[in-house]
Amino acid sequence: MTKKLVAYDRSHMKIGLKPAELKSAFRSLASQKQRGELGFLAIPELKKELAETERLARELRKKHKTLVVIGIGGSDLGARTLIQALRKRGEGMMAVRFIGANTDPEEIADLLAELDWKTTVLNVVSKSGGTLEPMGVFLLLRDRLVKAVGAKKAAARIVATTDRKGGALRTIAEREGYRTLPVPGAVGGRFSVLTPVGLFPAACAGISIRRLVRGAKAEFEAFFEEKDPVRNGPLAFAGLQHQAYRSGQGRMAVLMPYAARLERFGKWFVQLWGESLGKARDRQGKTVNAGQTPIAALGATDQHSQIQLYNEGPFDKTVTFIGVERFRAELSVPKAFADLPEIAYLGGHRFGDILNIERRATAEALFRHGRPNGTVMIEKITPETVGALMAFFMLATAAMGELLDVNAYDQPGVEEGKRIIGRMMGKG
Ligand code: PA5
Repeated sequence: MTKKLVAYDRSHMKIGLKPAELKSAFRSLASQKQRGELGFLAIPELKKELAETERLARELRKKHKTLVVIGIGGSDLGARTLIQALRKRGEGMMAVRFIGANTDPEEIADLLAELDWKTTVLNVVSKSGGTLEPMGVFLLLRDRLVKAVGAKKAAARIVATTDRKGGALRTIAEREGYRTLPVPGAVGGRFSVLTPVGLFPAACAGISIRRLVRGAKAEFEAFFEEKDPVRNGPLAFAGLQHQAYRSGQGRMAVLMPYAARLERFGKWFVQLWGESLGKARDRQGKTVNAGQTPIAALGATDQHSQIQLYNEGPFDKTVTFIGVERFRAELSVPKAFADLPEIAYLGGHRFGDILNIERRATAEALFRHGRPNGTVMIEKITPETVGALMAFFMLATAAMGELLDVNAYDQPGVEEGKRIIGRMMGKG
């Protein structure tokens, strides 16, 4: 049996699971896997892509200081999450900057003012190769890079991560001679973090991408080995969210990591859960307008903001905490002001322990207020556990798609907006 890197505690959920429904979702996912229909499950098998990504990152890290990643949605959020959670400092690690998820000219100007073109590499990421925001920003940055170092050197400093064959970015890359990394066709944008989309920036920042993929692989294997739906973390998580959603107690799903390095994980989850499951029609074509509204929070920070609403506001949310048993740095509060009991009690406590006490106390308070909440635990933030956490929520998303009976892998609701923008901007 594969060791589980992620544990799901649902003792505060107080919502009945429906094992038969979960078994049927599991069977459906297992047969989709067998037919090779769940593209993200094949990520651990992409060995050639992994080696290619590592090699290119190693080469560029030797000569350059900064990587600017240009992407949006699934071509942006995952890489940001990995860098925030796992970045290393030190010689030979590139600083990673992100742009292109917005067309705000002030944000772009701020970045341009800071960049040293002599030591900068651009990584433009777009699966389709034609998304307005990143491509617009890329055209500007490419222009500045060419002006600063000349067309030949600029081409050697641009890496395009895109579809193997199609799209305007592929055409540009071939025409101008950029190095390219593939976005596997079968892996949807928001499931692509552990492909070159997220792995290349991570490798440039010195993160072990092999360990990341190993963690995801372990979680994928554990999921399909665990036949008991009640003990299967991602399946039970999806089952409980589904019950809460159907009963009205969980129209919204809050994800609240208690670790500053996992703040971005919440944003990554919001896209994954929202874009995958918010659908007008079910797989039979019936109008259902389904989907929980995902919300990102951060512990302990949002105890002083959102928690008031979650404890006392409408009974329409589930809260899922992410807890970390041991932190990579340990610091304690010094003993001081012994005569002030409202401060003195802090002395001697380790900050990591305080954070975990706060998480447990918040869970208990929510429970006492009758609010369903659960906790996803990892031992420590490492490449393996972050890979496994991502796999956990990808599997949970796929399972929730089965339970809601919606296609979790398309995004027709995004397309209409894109078409209107294209018309307004005179796109042919
Ligand atoms: O999940 C998705 O498919 C989307 O969020 C895309 O990642 C996003 O629209 C960016 O698309 P692209 O990588 O084609 O530029």
